[in-house]
Amino acid sequence: MTNRTFTMIKPDAMKNGHAGAILDRISKEGFRIVALKMTKLPAEKAGEFYAVHKERPFYGELVEFMSSGVIIAAILEKDNAVAAFRELIGATNPAQAAAGTIRKLYAASVGENAIHGSDSDDNAKIEGDFFFSGLEKF
Ligand code: RTP
Ligand code: MG
Repeated sequence: MTNRTFTMIKPDAMKNGHAGAILDRISKEGFRIVALKMTKLPAEKAGEFYAVHKERPFYGELVEFMSSGVIIAAILEKDNAVAAFRELIGATNPAQAAAGTIRKLYAASVGENAIHGSDSDDNAKIEGDFFFSGLEKF
């Protein structure tokens, strides 16, 4: 499990037609897809997923945005997956993201930043289990 991370392609990137390019990039960077689905989070489920941010001023906007359209959720496998994937997606604010990162290429703002990546091995496991049953992981 230490080699796995969890990601979501967020509603902005889905609406802007970037899902194919993002999945292609993820694959070319050497991540193996363990699980994958397109879904749409009801506000209640988006709130549960981001519950750690409940007290933050942006929580309401975050929940509204993440439930505003379809997303693609996936579990990915690679050596050092969590850190390697955070490096690939870039800083939370695309204005501060390094050149060539997914957020620099495809995100418009800190609130609508194209993609999620787990921040620890423990959270990768929790987040992957939030979306996928054992029968959906390969
Ligand atoms: P994520 O969890 O989505 O991968 O993003 P992250 O680790 O880079 O950032 P995190 O601190 O976990 O924040 C979660 C999401 O909340 C939104 N946010 N908005 N307006 C703001 O100042 C602000 N700060 C964070 C972003 O969409 C961020 O991805
Ligand atoms: Mg985070």
